[in-house]
Amino acid sequence: MAEKIAKLNMNGKEYDLPILESTLGPDVVKVSELAKDATFTFDPGYNSTASCESKITFIDGSNGILLHRGYPIEQLAEKCEFLEVAHLLLHGELPNKNQKNSFYNDITHHTLVHEQIPRFFSGFRRDAHPMAIMVGVVGALSAFYHTDLDFSSQKNLMLAALRLIAKMPTLAAMTYKYSLGQPFIYPINNLDYAENFLHMMFSLPTEETNVNPVLAKALDKIMILHADHEQNASTSTVRMAGSTGANPFACIAAGIGALWGPAHGGANEACLNMLETIGDEGQIDKYIKKAKDKDDPFRLMGFGHRVYKNYDPRAKIMQKTCHDVLETVGAKDDPLFKLAMKLEKIALEDEYFVDRKLYPNVDFYSGITLRALGVPRNMFTVFFAVARTAGWISQWLEMHNEPTLKLARPRQRYLGATERDVPPIDKR
Ligand code: SDX
Repeated sequence: MAEKIAKLNMNGKEYDLPILESTLGPDVVKVSELAKDATFTFDPGYNSTASCESKITFIDGSNGILLHRGYPIEQLAEKCEFLEVAHLLLHGELPNKNQKNSFYNDITHHTLVHEQIPRFFSGFRRDAHPMAIMVGVVGALSAFYHTDLDFSSQKNLMLAALRLIAKMPTLAAMTYKYSLGQPFIYPINNLDYAENFLHMMFSLPTEETNVNPVLAKALDKIMILHADHEQNASTSTVRMAGSTGANPFACIAAGIGALWGPAHGGANEACLNMLETIGDEGQIDKYIKKAKDKDDPFRLMGFGHRVYKNYDPRAKIMQKTCHDVLETVGAKDDPLFKLAMKLEKIALEDEYFVDRKLYPNVDFYSGITLRALGVPRNMFTVFFAVARTAGWISQWLEMHNEPTLKLARPRQRYLGATERDVPPIDKR
C-alpha cells in the first residue's frame, strides 16, 4: 500500500513527510528530515509530539483506556500481582508458573542493599524530604555496581532492572525509618513484595512482624496502578538520560527527581494537603471558585490530566481500593474520603471542569488510601516512585534494545539577542 504522506510548504520548499501508522491510537508524521534545512517543529510541553516508538503502554485519553502490553488496567489490577505486571512490562508477556517463580525468586534475592548504603543516610537531616534522599541513594547505587555497568550485555541490562525493582522498597522504607530515628528493617525472603515493603516500613526489631494481608493486597494493587504510564514527564526524563548512555541507576534517579513535582507524581501529597486545607464540605464551593480563577494559582490537585480527557481508569479502581482499605482499618467514615467524593461530585457537575474535560486522576484518591495504610504524607510520592520504577526501567530497556541508541537532543525557538560585541566594563 502506498506510503501516506503529509505535505508541508515552508520557506519556498515542499516537504513530503511520511505518515507512520500505529497499532493503536493516532498515526504519526515523521518530521526528522526537516533538520536537514534547519527547520524545526515547535511544540512546547510536547503536547503533540511522539518522542519514541514503544510497545509497552497504550493510553486512549478520550475514552479513558489504559493497556499494558494490550491488557486493560482493570483486568491487571483485578487478576494479577504487581510483580506479574512488572514481568509483563519488562518481558512483554505475563509470566507462566515457572517464569513467575523464577522472576519472584530473582527479585527476592536482590532486595538487600550494600551495607555501606546506610552510611549515605547519616549525611541527611532527619527531616529531609524522603524524595530528596531517594534521588541521592538511588543514584549512589551506580557506585556499587560499576563492574556490571557494561550494558552491551543483555545479562547486565536485566540484572540492573532486577536490582532496581527489588531494592526500591528497601530504600524507600529506609528513608521512613531514618526520619523516625528507628533502625532500618531488613527484608524477609518469605514475604511477598508488598508485604515486605510494609514490613520494612512499619516493623520494629523488638516485635514480631505482623503485616495485614488485606492491606498488603491493597498496596500491591495501588502499585499496579502506578507501574507505567506511557511517555509521562518522569518516564521521558529516564529515556532522555538513558539516551546519553548513562547507567540505569542514574537514569532512575533522574526520573525520581522529575516525578517529585506537584504537577506530576507529587500531586498525591498535594491533593491530601488540599483536602485538609478545604477542611469541610461547606468550603468546597469557595475552593472550586479559586480553582476556576485565572488569577489564583490554586488548582484542584488530583484533577485533570495532559492525556486523559475522560475519567482516568486508574482513579476508578483507586476509589474502590480506597473504600476497601478504609473499611479494613475501620475508617469508612473518614471525613477526608467523604470530602473527596463530595468535591469530585461537585466538580464533575461544574461546567468549568466539564468544558475542560477535567476528571479525577490517579492521584486524587491515592493520598487518602496511602494515609489509611499508615503511610506519612511525604512518603506518598516515594511509594509512587517504587511502583513506577518497573515502568521506568522497562522503558529504559526498550530504548536500549533498539538497533541504535539515538541521543535525545531537542532544539529551540530562539528569541534572544542578535550578535553583538562585548563592551569594555566602563561602557556597560
Ligand atoms: C500524573 O502524564 C502522565 O501520565 C502523568 C501520570 C502518570 O501516571 O505518570 O498520570 C501521573 O502526573 C497525574 C497528574 C497529577 N497532577 C495533578 O493532579 C495536578 C493538578 N492537575 C493540573 O496541574 C493539570 O491538570 C495537569 C498538569 C495535570 C495537566 O495540565 P495540562 O494538560 O497542561 O492542561 P492545562 O494546564 O493546559 O489546563 C487546561 C485548562 C486550563 O484552563 P484554560 O487555560 O483552558 O482556561 O484546564 C485548567 C487549566 O487552567 N486546569 C485546571 C486543572 N487542570 C487543568 N484548573 C483547575 N484545577 C486543575 N487541576
